[in-house]
Amino acid sequence: MKIAVAGTGYVGLVAGVCFAEKGYQVTCVDVDEKKVEMMRQGISPIYEEGLEELMQKNNAKGMLHFTTDYVEAYRDAGAIFIGVGTPEMPDGSANLSYIAEVSRQIAETVEKDCLVVVKSTVPVGTNDKVEQFIKDFLVHDVKVEVASNPEFLAQGTAVYDTLHAARIIIGTESKEAEALLQKIYEPFGLPVVSVKRRSAEMIKYACNDFLALKISYMNDIANLCELVGADITDVAKGMSYDERIGARFLNAGIGFGGSCFPKDTKALKFLAREHGYQLKTVEACVDVNSAQKTRLFEKAKERMISFNGLKAAVLGLTFKSGTDDLREAPSIDNLKLLLAAGARIYAYDPKGTERAKQLFPEGKMDKGTISYVSSSEQALSGAHICFIFTEWPEIKEIDPQDFKDKMHTPLVYDGRNLYDPAKMKTAGVEYYSIGR
Ligand code: UDX
Repeated sequence: MKIAVAGTGYVGLVAGVCFAEKGYQVTCVDVDEKKVEMMRQGISPIYEEGLEELMQKNNAKGMLHFTTDYVEAYRDAGAIFIGVGTPEMPDGSANLSYIAEVSRQIAETVEKDCLVVVKSTVPVGTNDKVEQFIKDFLVHDVKVEVASNPEFLAQGTAVYDTLHAARIIIGTESKEAEALLQKIYEPFGLPVVSVKRRSAEMIKYACNDFLALKISYMNDIANLCELVGADITDVAKGMSYDERIGARFLNAGIGFGGSCFPKDTKALKFLAREHGYQLKTVEACVDVNSAQKTRLFEKAKERMISFNGLKAAVLGLTFKSGTDDLREAPSIDNLKLLLAAGARIYAYDPKGTERAKQLFPEGKMDKGTISYVSSSEQALSGAHICFIFTEWPEIKEIDPQDFKDKMHTPLVYDGRNLYDPAKMKTAGVEYYSIGR
């Protein structure tokens, strides 16, 4: 069966590549000519472990194609997966204009019966609208059904998460659509949970927002730990043995970022409000996270008279390790505050520098300056203060003694709890972290 994929971001590209790997003829569509040309040459537009290798392998086998010509891709596809973005609108709702555009293109081009599968995260009820929209604009006399198939991959482990997903969620309104989608996923050999379309859409939000809540809860408890003299890492360890809680996503820190949690918490809050309901738990999670992001800066402000002219080493810029993505990264809010306070920032990130430069071009900005360096040593050398925003292994490996030896003042604000406070103290470093 021929599969078409609309959108080549994290969701679309990884899905397309993995379907090709599982033996399908896949055509990925994107509007960006330059990006399509790159992908044809086997160059991935995103940094994701194992992705380029699989792209190159399946390009060479003739299983994977990239095009800007959606007519060619959709016309005779058996299934079309939609993986375009649903960015956040200023009011917190999801922007569905890309989904609408692709739906219309599909309606105008499909010449045989096909299944349209929505992988993008969309508000509950969107699949119904997509189906109606396609029916309204359909040009040829063909049957088009719409299924929901939310994606649970995390950045940095996208290929692994897709090939070894904990479950595949299938949301359909007909037995035919359900059977077809199950068949498409057969070669993956993964557990399939088949539900109604609206439930599938809700599962995605419920999962992401639950994980976001878990993080905000730990951050809240961490802040309380500081006040009462407990240590959040010990508390998390003690909690992790309870299987009902689980050991993952218990790391307190500088708040969650990325392309999903911030957007999906706000979108669910908006959806509830639209239906006259206040989702108090999720709203609290959003509030805790927004305050958490600048907590370290606020702490540092209590300690310093001014940041003006000080050399600030910033270690880690991406929203988490293993990715070059800076979307909603806590570093962004902090860089803005530091620049507004006149700091001279020397930032180091193993993968995120290029993207950071697009947001904060090198040189003077606001009242401060920003430079990007290629090692943590360069960032730390002569620095008056150091902020840590991402848990990169190469940052975690820094010896406490290096802070003492390289910095002008060994003063470290760690948003990821990477070091043992006792070892930092022994090395002579004044060290602040989260919840301990
Ligand atoms: C997330 C979900 O994990 C994934 O299932 C969904 O499909 C998309 O959203 P992702 O955004 O790639 O994936 O990253 P994730 O690893 O979940 O981390 C999100 C944010 O939470 C990061 O900023 C991370 O640093 C933070 N986080 C995570 C914590 O602060 N503490 C933790 O214990 C775990």
